Amino acid sequence: MNEVLRRLLFLPDQASTFARDVDRLHYFVIITTFIMSTAVGLTAIFFFVRYRRRSETQTTPHIEPALWMEALFVGTPLIFFTLWFFLGFREFVRQQTPPSDSMDVYVMGKKWMWKFAYPDGPNSINVLRVPAGRNVRLLMTSRDVIHSFYVPEFRIKQDVLPGRYTQTWFNATMPGRYQILCAEYCGAGHSIMRGEVIVLKPQEYENWLAFQHRGLVATQDAQPTALDFAPPLGNMVDQGRRIAAEQGCLKCHTTDGTRHIGPTWLDLYLRRERLNDGSIVVADEAYLTESMMDPALKVVEGFQPVMPSFQGKLAGPEVAALVEYIKSLQSDAVRIGPSEGPAYAPIRGR
Ligand code: CUA
Repeated sequence: MNEVLRRLLFLPDQASTFARDVDRLHYFVIITTFIMSTAVGLTAIFFFVRYRRRSETQTTPHIEPALWMEALFVGTPLIFFTLWFFLGFREFVRQQTPPSDSMDVYVMGKKWMWKFAYPDGPNSINVLRVPAGRNVRLLMTSRDVIHSFYVPEFRIKQDVLPGRYTQTWFNATMPGRYQILCAEYCGAGHSIMRGEVIVLKPQEYENWLAFQHRGLVATQDAQPTALDFAPPLGNMVDQGRRIAAEQGCLKCHTTDGTRHIGPTWLDLYLRRERLNDGSIVVADEAYLTESMMDPALKVVEGFQPVMPSFQGKLAGPEVAALVEYIKSLQSDAVRIGPSEGPAYAPIRGR
């Protein structure tokens, strides 16, 4: 049944855990609207014939419909709309809530290409490799204008915005190659802004990752592009540490829990911060990015709004690297990795 309807509606393959549920809702909406519009059409034809004017002098009597009948005609569509909304909203919430065990990939849209960066090393342009059966969270931003990351087979579509992080996630079920499209008009090259997700079997993915780590960058990923976009190899945490030093972040933020001009970065990621207006925020990727771009907007209680904006001073990948560096500063986490160095100081400063 699913397969028949999918082909009938010309839908692409169902290659993620979302696909089937999104399609089921699609079928439900299509089938109910199809049945109802057919019923309305047939009723109209029946009325045309049954109540046609039979003579020049015929008049129409005044009709007061019964209350129950009005309630029925208003109530039935309302029930369906509510049901669709409920099912759609449930799916929306699911798509907006990445599971905590997801692996992260940073995505940057740029006129007119997609760039991917894995926190522990390899970068690629236009080709995203992921293992099948794993939850993958995409942390997405744009370098210039609004783009939209769209993989039809996964039934995911998410806008990417300059100076901000948005996220989505998926779990690809079938190994294969799937097209990534840009679904937001972004200029003359919009139609050629395409990429590819390559879903590998878990073992193949591990092999590929090991291959990348040995420094043998597969050149087939690198399409001829602007020089500044050549995929630099290296760990995002290390890059972030370097950028933090270069940009002077560490003049105000400590990484060991000590209180200074700005909040410490130790254990900052996902910390619940009280702001000077009394509200609470969770320091996730979106908040950290927002705080670099518009520092005065949400100031942590007890600190002065003295930080300058880094809007236009940091490129998307640099912001991602900084976020990744901040995420690495956890006092109780055992961090392992090729260049993580010694464990971080076990101080829990708030
Ligand atoms: Cu990017 Cu359209």
